[in-house]
Amino acid sequence: MTIIVTGGAGFIGSNFIFYQLKHHPEDRIVCLDNLTYAGNLSTLASVMDRPNFRFVKADICDREAVNRLFDEEKPEIIVNFAAESHVDRSIEDPGVFLRTNILGTQVLMDACRKYGIGRYHQVSTDEVYGDLPLDRPDLFFTEETPIHTSSPYSASKASADLLVLAYHRTFGLPVTISRCSNNYGPYHFPEKLIPLMIANCLNDKPLPVYGKGENVRDWLYVEDHCKAIDLIIRKGRVGEVYNIGGHNEMKNIDIVKLICKALDKPESLITYVTDRKGHDMRYAIDPTKIHNELGWLPETKFADGIKKTIQWYLDNRDWWEEIISGEYQNYYEKMYANR
Ligand code: NAD
Ligand code: TYD
Repeated sequence: MTIIVTGGAGFIGSNFIFYQLKHHPEDRIVCLDNLTYAGNLSTLASVMDRPNFRFVKADICDREAVNRLFDEEKPEIIVNFAAESHVDRSIEDPGVFLRTNILGTQVLMDACRKYGIGRYHQVSTDEVYGDLPLDRPDLFFTEETPIHTSSPYSASKASADLLVLAYHRTFGLPVTISRCSNNYGPYHFPEKLIPLMIANCLNDKPLPVYGKGENVRDWLYVEDHCKAIDLIIRKGRVGEVYNIGGHNEMKNIDIVKLICKALDKPESLITYVTDRKGHDMRYAIDPTKIHNELGWLPETKFADGIKKTIQWYLDNRDWWEEIISGEYQNYYEKMYANR
């Protein structure tokens, strides 16, 4: 069968493409990505020549281009990773988040209705649930936790989720949604916490920790996320939401110190900077449903995953050095110069 993967030149989408080509070589993968600042064609270089892989550069908001692709490929499954994904950018400029994350989702689902598909899967985030207090370690996000967003990013993702569920109820579109916690691993864009700290450490640059660094995130190795989505699109129940997370909560400051230690850099590089506006305190996923229904469990322990990730950034300096030497440099100056 043919699977369209949108946003496949980004962090998780590319890892998902590698996972599919490895575990389901009988399927055809078509990547639809318009290569924003976060999309990188070099990430897909190793699969570009595969006969069962095709890359198409197009915007998910471009109805004509999306319809043309559906007409050509007659896909069975759509997995929508394409999004603006960085909270800090959404605080600077929310508009493009609403356009891509909400209207782009609508365009894709309209094409699904027009051409008919077996499954539309929306890759969402635990951030749609808002945050949890630090002094209630007994609380976790379940699929029933009310939507309660904090940033323009999370509000745009939550809006898309509501639209996906509405298309299921109103038009009978066969949809699923997954809401995952923070991912880490290879090809993670160096504006996000873990790759940014690794890159800055390697360049002996200050490590900008927001606020006191006490915010907690629930980290999952990217391949475990890909495996969960693979299970959901093939065996998950239509109309359902599945939370994905591996019970691996860590404070930001502890992650940064761990990276310093692993790279043998002094903690004096750590610089506390102005906090993010509306900064969510704690995310923590209860993954009971996906475990009970689909047998999913994370396979990579954080200690192993972070070691592999740091090694990947050491072995693939060209990949991230090219990014941080280009247009991204202007973003970095703007965001961190006077912070
Ligand atoms: P990313 O920013 O690394 O990649 C996004 C990709 O989407 C890029 O390749 C970009 O070119 C593409 N894209 C953006 N706008 C597009 C458009 N209009 N048309 C076509 N392509 C477009 O993001 P990521 O971290 O890989 O996240 C992928 C998905 O997973 C997002 O939907 C995000 O909300 C969700 N998610 C991410 C995390 C995480 O920790 N990174 C956790 C949970 C959920
Ligand atoms: P991020 O990787 O942007 O993911 P998200 O905001 O989606 O969870 O940030 C992870 C955490 O790290 C978050 O609490 C903000 C914090 N952070 C810093 O302290 N410094 C930084 O330079 C960045 C990018 C993030």
